[in-house]
Amino acid sequence: METNDYYKRVLKDLRISVTDRCNFRCRYCMPEEIFNQDYPFLSRDHVLSVDETIRIARIFARLGVTKMRITGGEPILRKELPDIIAGIAGIEGIQDIALTTNGSLLAKQAAKLREAGLMRVAVSLDALDDETFMKMNGGKARVQQVLDGIDAAAEAGLLVKINMVVQKGVNEHALLPMVRYFREKGHILRMIEYMDVGNTNGWDWKQVVSKKEMLDRIGAEFPLVPVEPNYTGEVASRFRFLDGKGEIGVISSVSDAFCSTCTRGRLSADGMFYTCLFATQGHDLRKLLRSETDDEAILEKITSIWEGRNDQYSLERGTASGVRSAGAKVEMSRIGG
Ligand code: GTP
Ligand code: 5AD
Ligand code: SF4
Ligand code: SF4
Repeated sequence: METNDYYKRVLKDLRISVTDRCNFRCRYCMPEEIFNQDYPFLSRDHVLSVDETIRIARIFARLGVTKMRITGGEPILRKELPDIIAGIAGIEGIQDIALTTNGSLLAKQAAKLREAGLMRVAVSLDALDDETFMKMNGGKARVQQVLDGIDAAAEAGLLVKINMVVQKGVNEHALLPMVRYFREKGHILRMIEYMDVGNTNGWDWKQVVSKKEMLDRIGAEFPLVPVEPNYTGEVASRFRFLDGKGEIGVISSVSDAFCSTCTRGRLSADGMFYTCLFATQGHDLRKLLRSETDDEAILEKITSIWEGRNDQYSLERGTASGVRSAGAKVEMSRIGG
């Protein structure tokens, strides 16, 4: 079954956040002065159980979702993560199961997650020097810990991509060292334009290094050739090294929006369904899951939400329709990017 939204975009991917907690405090996502012991993190009974998560995932699969990505916060903090992955792996029609993680706990968990049915990981890493990396993650981990996690994931047979958020004046200098390192390792590095997600990172256009700027800098050392997307609506634009040794990607939500092909829905750990990364309101599916409502009625509810979807925030950024009032956007740590 295929469901179209207002702009004829089908629902194909679901990003499922399994916790809103994280052991890092990246300045651009969970600044420590806000995400401290006074922050209202979700209580355990508000978080969907493993069974509830799998049930809702199964309903989404019936609606045409073939690709599921587990996110957080930091998803590996969720003790039942292998059970959630195993449950999703058992759903008919799911072709791709990926995980977005900060990598700090991957060294221990990679093999177990692979065994449960995980296929791919995207590991976030913003620099190769401890000084920059720790400044960005709130002093919570050293680079080597993440590199060990990446190696463990590759050894366990997971396909690995690296996500680097590039922030002007903060980690620009890490761009080429990162490209060189991961080119040698054989992993795809994807550079992400710094985005105005959530309400707490004090985002400013001036802090963005644009896709063009990144490509110019990398291209000066490694000539690049554009490559066709792997699938329609791929978030990253792909470039291969002219010498044939691998590829990189750039995620340009700010300078070159990709909303017109956006097939992604997002589910927070407490069962709220969001139709955009920059949504101001979610749709409460947990309430339905914990009532007498049957699968058919939940399926109809999701269909009608998706049919009403007209989000295209990145295209509207900087225009009147892109204006959001203070505190209105969902936090990145709630929906995992
Ligand atoms: P692949 O499945 O390998 O193509 O991964 P992905 O790019 O879909 O997922 P990942 O979690 O690695 O996302 C990388 C970055 O892209 C993160 O910073 C996300 O926040 C950002 N991103 C993913 N989807 C969207 C989207 O729909 N809109 C915007 N603006 N950013 C997105
Ligand atoms: N802008 C761009 N990317 C971000 N991420 C977190 N916050 C931001 C932001 N403000 C990235 C993380 C991770 C992915 C899920 O989103 O580093 O790689
Ligand atoms: Fe945690 Fe990822 Fe947010 Fe950093 S970006 S605080 S690792 S959820
Ligand atoms: Fe999709 Fe919203 Fe991102 Fe646009 S801004 S690509 S609509 S999630």
